[in-house]
Amino acid sequence: MPPFLLKEGREEAARSEPEGQARILWIMKKSSKNRLPPQQQSLFPGDNLFDKIARAVCRAGTLPRKELYEAWEMAKRVRRRYRGGRILDLACGHGLLAHIMLILDDSSKIGIAVDTNIPLNAGKLSKELITSWPRLKNRIIYKQVPVHEITILPDDIVVSAHACGSLTDLIIARAIEQRARVAVLPCCHNLKESSSGGLEGWMDKTLAVDTVRAETLRSNGYKIVTQKIPDEITPKNRLLMGEYLGR
Ligand SMILES: C[S@@+](CC[C@H](N)C(=O)[O-])C[C@H]1O[C@@H](n2cnc3c(N)ncnc32)[C@H](O)[C@@H]1O
Repeated sequence: MPPFLLKEGREEAARSEPEGQARILWIMKKSSKNRLPPQQQSLFPGDNLFDKIARAVCRAGTLPRKELYEAWEMAKRVRRRYRGGRILDLACGHGLLAHIMLILDDSSKIGIAVDTNIPLNAGKLSKELITSWPRLKNRIIYKQVPVHEITILPDDIVVSAHACGSLTDLIIARAIEQRARVAVLPCCHNLKESSSGGLEGWMDKTLAVDTVRAETLRSNGYKIVTQKIPDEITPKNRLLMGEYLGR
């Protein structure tokens, strides 16, 4: 039987056998790109907020497991610092990050989830989350447009998880134009398009690119915060946050 078909209640039994334990570890691997199916709700039995969100995500049956953990780890770090304004989830994919930002903190009225190619089943995910958190109803707006067409307001919180290559640079630049708060989790660095600032003689090239991004924010009057989400979820785990404080 494929591991994800373990029936509810079978996990406890499986944990007590060595072979079962290996299967459970496989099921629980946070970096997995496998979709979380409804059957795996039982892996998240707790009363805590993360487990509640995870169960809703499982019921939707649409999202790769790593995206759940990435969005959660990013959102909780951003929300510890930034409140209010609109949430702009740019290059949003399914838009889970926008939802979690509102679930964690109701001080933002709306979340706008922007992507040139919104997955067909994003609506299913949103519906499950809104069923569990009815206060989100009519507060998440999907826009299928490119980032450069989005109007950013100074009070917005711009968030973006894994905007590929130089799209992360564009998102940072768009936020700086309006001095909006911004948080990015860069991925797949494009070393031809993104500046490494000549730092690659001292450090890994991708780190050089992210260092230049941090310095770009800082030199534009931003107070920056650099953190990492756990690398067991993704090696593309550098989180860069910035808030304009003036020069
Ligand atoms: C690696 S995915 C990340 C999706 C999601 N944020 C996540 O963490 O799972 C990158 C996304 O960027 C979107 N994208 C690419 N170019 C874009 C652009 N110019 N404007 C908006 N979205 C774009 C793609 O359609 C894709 O969904």
